[in-house]
Amino acid sequence: MRYDTPSLTRWNSRAYDSSFGYVSAKGAPLVELLDPQPGERVLDLGCGTGVLTAEIASRGARVLGIDGSPAMIEKALAQFPGIDFIVGDGHDFTVVEGYDAVFSNAALHWMSRDPERVIENVREALLPGGRFVAEMGGAGNCAELTAAMSTAWREYGLPEPGLPWYFPSPAEYAGRLEKHGFVVRLLEYFDRPTPLDECPGGAADWVRMFAANLLEGLPPDLVDPLLRRVNELAAPALRRETGWMADYVRLRFAAVRR
Ligand code: BEZ
Repeated sequence: MRYDTPSLTRWNSRAYDSSFGYVSAKGAPLVELLDPQPGERVLDLGCGTGVLTAEIASRGARVLGIDGSPAMIEKALAQFPGIDFIVGDGHDFTVVEGYDAVFSNAALHWMSRDPERVIENVREALLPGGRFVAEMGGAGNCAELTAAMSTAWREYGLPEPGLPWYFPSPAEYAGRLEKHGFVVRLLEYFDRPTPLDECPGGAADWVRMFAANLLEGLPPDLVDPLLRRVNELAAPALRRETGWMADYVRLRFAAVRR
């Protein structure tokens, strides 16, 4: 779901898959963890353009993809006409039939308004014994990227940027899962430096793609110098000879509804 701030619903779904195709490509191990079985009902929460939804469907599961971005869902429907996709918000979706599993890749951190509400909705969507298998940004995710943003914003006399993401620690998220009726079977927390191969403009491109809402309302002639400064500040940590890296930290888990 990417409803939390208006500009996020305007993500460019073509760029998401071409320039930022790693979002889907990196999700493949998560599908293995889900291990979808023929005939199972699976909900893909925050499905984006549906690449992993289709992968799950190819294993014989009956999948519904949900995403907060109409543009993403439009593209998913066009790419995978045999699969069900709907626009919906993780904070208030309901389903009529229980699911065997809820899957979510690189999406839960966007559902930052009320993470417990999202977990509760997932629980409601699952049958007893149903699995919740997901990967999201964990505590410290994008620390260098966001530190460079904060410093650049401050240097330009702008208020601290209000970041739209939720990056919990493993303990915090496990506690929330348990509080809402899940047994946590697996929880991994690891660095995953991610090449921004398709970002010739480095951190600046990343900000334009994922934090575009923070640029809205700024004087237009400020944006380029501001983002050039973000690049200068982020470069020592994130620019390698081979190109830019994003300092991603992943929280991956598999939990079962009691
Ligand atoms: C992530 O996948 O960790 C992420 C991507 C874009 C913005 C923030 C986090």
